[in-house]
Amino acid sequence: MAKYKIAWLPGDGVGVEVMEAAKIVLDKVGLDAEYVHGDIGWEFWKSEGDPFPERTIELLKNTDCALFGAITSMPKEEAQKALAPELQGKGLVYSSPIVGMRQLFDLHTNLRPCIAFSGNPLNYRDDIDLVVFRENTEGLYAGVEWHPVPEGLRAAMMQHHKKMARFGETDLNDLAISTRIFTRKGCQRILRSAFEYAKRTGRPTVTIVEKPNVIRETSGLMVREARKMQAEEYPDIQLWETNVDAMCMWLVKNPQDYSVLVSSNMFGDIISDLSAQLVGGLGFASAANIGDNYAVFEPTHGSAPKYTGMYKVNPIAMIQAARLMVEWLGETEMAEHILKAVSEVIAEGKVRTYDMGGDAKTLDVANAIAEKL
Ligand code: IPM
Ligand code: MG
Repeated sequence: MAKYKIAWLPGDGVGVEVMEAAKIVLDKVGLDAEYVHGDIGWEFWKSEGDPFPERTIELLKNTDCALFGAITSMPKEEAQKALAPELQGKGLVYSSPIVGMRQLFDLHTNLRPCIAFSGNPLNYRDDIDLVVFRENTEGLYAGVEWHPVPEGLRAAMMQHHKKMARFGETDLNDLAISTRIFTRKGCQRILRSAFEYAKRTGRPTVTIVEKPNVIRETSGLMVREARKMQAEEYPDIQLWETNVDAMCMWLVKNPQDYSVLVSSNMFGDIISDLSAQLVGGLGFASAANIGDNYAVFEPTHGSAPKYTGMYKVNPIAMIQAARLMVEWLGETEMAEHILKAVSEVIAEGKVRTYDMGGDAKTLDVANAIAEKL
């Protein structure tokens, strides 16, 4: 029996191709694992009305972790039209499997490394080494929202908040509300992940990225928890506080000054895309969705339907996701080997996909990395 059992979730489009690339590297590094395929994505939405079927949820429950490629998702109307005729009009609503997975398995920490590999022509600067910690289960992604707004809900809000009076006359069909829900526990979990990581890897600063001057209650709670945790438990690590808008400017101006960034779900989503672009963009951005007992690893790019079947996209983000998985499993040495092999291939600059100005194919890059192992 293999040492690890891993759910293998290629999903749609180029997800399938980059997963093939990751497999080449995992096999070469010698990870002792059994990979079990799981159905997920747009195909299953169209044919079954569920992009994340129950059988796949069961599979995840029976594995150590999952490696995930990419999925196609579309806005409400397009998703509705794509459903098989017999599923039309049944009130099925598309929702993102990756967001569902994060909540269902309580994968509270989204860790997103952004490393400027030396020799990458796409680097904005060559001295960037950031890690974004994004809260992954609550905030604006809690999914608690209404349109139209139920009358009772508005009445209750008016009763409890005087600022709601401004919306007292708006037609309920013309009113939409999305809530931003924070819990103390949720704040503490992501902050702890960030501080622990900084401590373990010897990073000098943790920057909390919020907006407590305006969003007083939620951002305020998180910043207060950050101050408390730093003072009581991590006195050797500096806590920097930055508003999310200013952070976007600083990340363009002086990205090399930052090390660990920590933020809530939506702001973390935004700053992690910004940070990813500083070090080469979609082809380099990977994510680890980590909970107490399970984790899902993915590149942050989508399924790129227009490139499907062309084996054109850069698999480095996916291979980095596999590397994060290997590390999380505790195979530290193997993870280091993968990182080193990736760095070498980028530094040599001989095998590059189109985004890096080359004409190598997805699997050429994977094979070049495997050769270094
Ligand atoms: C990400 C993506 C997802 C998110 C989408 C695909 C739902 O942007 O992982 O950053 O918003 O979290
Ligand atoms: Mg995103």
